[in-house]
Formats: sequence, structure tokens, C-alpha cells
Amino acid sequence: MNAPGIAFVRDARRVREHIGQQHRYAHILRVARTAEALARTHGADPARARTAGMFHDLARLYPGERLLRESEQRGLPIGEFERANPIVLHAPLGAELARDWFGVHDEAILSAIRKHTLAAATMSPLDEILYLADGLEPGRDYVGRADMLALAFDDLAAAMAAHLTESLNYHREHNMSPAPQTLAALEHYAPIPLREKRSA
Ligand SMILES: [Fe+2]
Ligand SMILES: [Fe+2]
Repeated sequence: MNAPGIAFVRDARRVREHIGQQHRYAHILRVARTAEALARTHGADPARARTAGMFHDLARLYPGERLLRESEQRGLPIGEFERANPIVLHAPLGAELARDWFGVHDEAILSAIRKHTLAAATMSPLDEILYLADGLEPGRDYVGRADMLALAFDDLAAAMAAHLTESLNYHREHNMSPAPQTLAALEHYAPIPLREKRSA
């Protein structure tokens, strides 16, 4: 096995031990593989994309009060939305854990981990790749997923628009308000005329 292959297997083992749940670990591996494939297609760095995928959900299984407590201890920004939905804090807190426990110091990777749940107005191609890989990996089961993943291989920005619009529709159907960060991403990738055209 080559050196990156050995590193991948070593990281995977450590993440599996940390996560301790097969279901979530299987998702993590699918996200890592999907992100790597998207990066190859779009001329981004496959190793960085894979690493971002591997470490993106380190805090995903923490209960809400632990997410709030540890985020507060680390001085992470906690807005009204985060307070009402602490689960979203697993993204910024996960980036902290990736750095402190797994030695990930690459700011591009940490940024992708931070933004993988709520997205943001400004996203790098690596941020987009992880966000899309997380939402569109083959283990996710909802109508239109495979088409959106195919779109992601074709055009990252178009897939961001489609996926964010889906997310907005989901929020509307459930009478929930999206996070300010997600609304800012929608404004960037899918301004209102485009959203209305899509949902028409
Ligand atoms: Fe996540
Ligand atoms: Fe995830």
C-alpha cells in the first residue's frame, strides 16, 4: 500500500474508534469517498477532500448539551439558531476536534468541516465538495438525490443551488426557519428568481 493509502487506513481506524457507531462510521466513509471523487473530477485536491470527509462528523453523536457546553468552552460563536438547534454545532466543534485530536491543521480542510452542515455565503470549492458529498452520498435516501449527485459531478455551483433549494423547501414544509448562514448561501447560489423558477 502507498503512503496516502496507509494514512487513510490509519485515520479510518482512529475515527471508527472515536465514533463507536457503525452506521455513522459507514456514512463517514461514503462521504470521504464521494468527496474524493468530486475533487478528482473538479481539479481540487483529492487527499484534502478525503481528509475533510473522514473528520467531518467527529462530534455528530454528541448530545445537545455537550455540543453547547464544549462549544462555549472553546468560544465558538453560538447564535440563536445554534441555541435552538445545538446539533448544528457538531460542524464547528468537529473542526476543533479534528485539529486538536487528529492533527488536522490545514485551514482549508477545517473550513470545509465547519461549513458542512449549514453552508455559508462564501464557500471554496473544497467547502462545496464536502457540503455536497455529505448531503448527497449514496447512503442518503430521498427522491432526487442521485440526480443531484450527478449534477455535482458536472457543476458544483449548480448542485449547491439545487441542494440548498431542496433544503429550503424541506424547512418550509416543516415550518422551520433555515439558519442565517444557510439563507446567506441560498442568496449566493440560488437567488430568489432562480428558486421560484425551480419550484414552479
Ligand atoms: Fe455532519
Ligand atoms: Fe455527515
